[in-house]
Amino acid sequence: MTKHFLNLADAGGDAVAAMIADAIDRKSARAAWPKGRVDADAPLADHVLAMVFEKNSTRTRVSFDMAIRQLGGTSLILDAATTQLGRGETVADTARVLSRMCDAIMIRTDDHAKVEEMAHYATVPVINGLTDLSHPCQIVADLLTVVEHGVALPGSQWAWLGDGNNVLHSIIEAAGLLKFDVRIAVPQGYEPDPSFAAAAQAMGARISLTRNALEAVAGADIVVTDTWISMGQAHAEEKLAAMMPYQVTPALMATAKPQAKFLHCLPAHRGEEVTADVIDGPQSLIWDEAENRIHAQKSVLLWALGHLG
Ligand code: CP
Ligand code: NVA
Repeated sequence: MTKHFLNLADAGGDAVAAMIADAIDRKSARAAWPKGRVDADAPLADHVLAMVFEKNSTRTRVSFDMAIRQLGGTSLILDAATTQLGRGETVADTARVLSRMCDAIMIRTDDHAKVEEMAHYATVPVINGLTDLSHPCQIVADLLTVVEHGVALPGSQWAWLGDGNNVLHSIIEAAGLLKFDVRIAVPQGYEPDPSFAAAAQAMGARISLTRNALEAVAGADIVVTDTWISMGQAHAEEKLAAMMPYQVTPALMATAKPQAKFLHCLPAHRGEEVTADVIDGPQSLIWDEAENRIHAQKSVLLWALGHLG
């Protein structure tokens, strides 16, 4: 059966754990190599990854391109605006054609239903490179980053501040699969989709929601935030004002565990969701987190193409 990666649950907890372990091994095996050199075993030699972008991207685009190169394959980058998809060719027909020409498809788009439709009609793996609903590839990199920095995931305490968005949905999903706890501090009207918390809670994770940033961060191992205005959302002053009490500041970080780490998927807006002294400070793991997109995306590709888990 074709293995699609639309959400973390498509892989499951054991496979996500295997992705993290494989990423750690592959990363250390190529430490100090030039970034374009192919891994010794070239597991995806002769494979072509098609990437479809209906939204902007720096990290997802570059990391998947570098990931498939390091695994021995090659990529095609398709901006939807310059393909027939941008002129109204259906997602279904695009999926059928790309499946005949390429070995896997990564797509970044708005409506999650488009990724589901792509997976329904594709006969090769489809990977969600971000939708309005979720961002699972980012969270494999986040999990890898915190594990690398010595945090044991089961039972760890994560605090999310700000908007209840796509990145948060995938963190909540990961919490259910890997048994960690998430305290969410968001303003009224910006809560995450409750179905993610319900699913994670049913798997044993503790997911709680508060209006109080200090309450969410108290004693946390990991503090994480994201832009207050995601791609495709209107830049509303009203929303920015509602978010201000959830800005990650040094005073807020001081209430987390002394060794707590700060994560942000980037791009960041210093002075909005996080102050410069936090994101550029000693507790911030953002550059490891960004680099780890490559190592994590290699694991996702290996899993989807049947080499892992
Ligand atoms: N974090 C992330 O997905 O970044 P890009 O939007 O640059 O791909
Ligand atoms: N929540 C952000 C994440 C960007 C990587 C967005 O969807 O724009």
